Amino acid sequence: MKLFLDTASVKEIRTMWEIGILDGVTTNPTLVAKEGRKFEEVLREICALGVPSVSAEVVATDVEGMLREGRHLRGLHPSIYVKVPMTPAGLQATKTLASEGTRVNMTLVFSANQALLAAKVGAAYVSPFIGRLDDQGEVGMELIRDIVAIYSNYRFSTEILVASVRHPVHVLEAAKLGAHIATMPYAVMEKLVQHPLTDLGLARFLKDWEKVPRG
Ligand code: E4P
Repeated sequence: MKLFLDTASVKEIRTMWEIGILDGVTTNPTLVAKEGRKFEEVLREICALGVPSVSAEVVATDVEGMLREGRHLRGLHPSIYVKVPMTPAGLQATKTLASEGTRVNMTLVFSANQALLAAKVGAAYVSPFIGRLDDQGEVGMELIRDIVAIYSNYRFSTEILVASVRHPVHVLEAAKLGAHIATMPYAVMEKLVQHPLTDLGLARFLKDWEKVPRG
């Protein structure tokens, strides 16, 4: 399973990249705005680290605009995946971009039928937002279960990128269902690494080691 960071913070990305557990990055207009930096400058820095998959979102809402922005973003670096929203225009733009060889991440997906459409137009990734569904009183993980079943029935090659992840149990459940990717905030990825018993155990080993005779 691939683990992505959902952030536009180069500092956060560099930390996880250096540890060696990061497979990719997703950004969105909200995350980019939070950094207060120029979008393309941030993208270039992330790509320069060597991260193999970096999703950058179009903000146009019409087909022509999405195609123009998508082609431009794709041209910035070979690691860029173009994020396109799940709308009629988004589906149309995805079909064209995919036919040109651009890898598209269809975003803002909230139903299994939307995921089916994303696969049919050739998206490389589909991004179901499970946390936002949970926030609404729905069970986001059920959507992942449905998409896994549908994609397997028809052998679609679109990868399921579990998005809007809020805590480590989301990652665990997504992995158990066989989702290809989970994208998460830095704080969630940190929690995947940590366990209080690891810290306690290490402290005890180091303390006991002091009692071992030297020399
Ligand atoms: C995915 O690509 C989105 O950027 C993201 O996961 C949205 O998460 P949120 O619901 O926490 O904003």
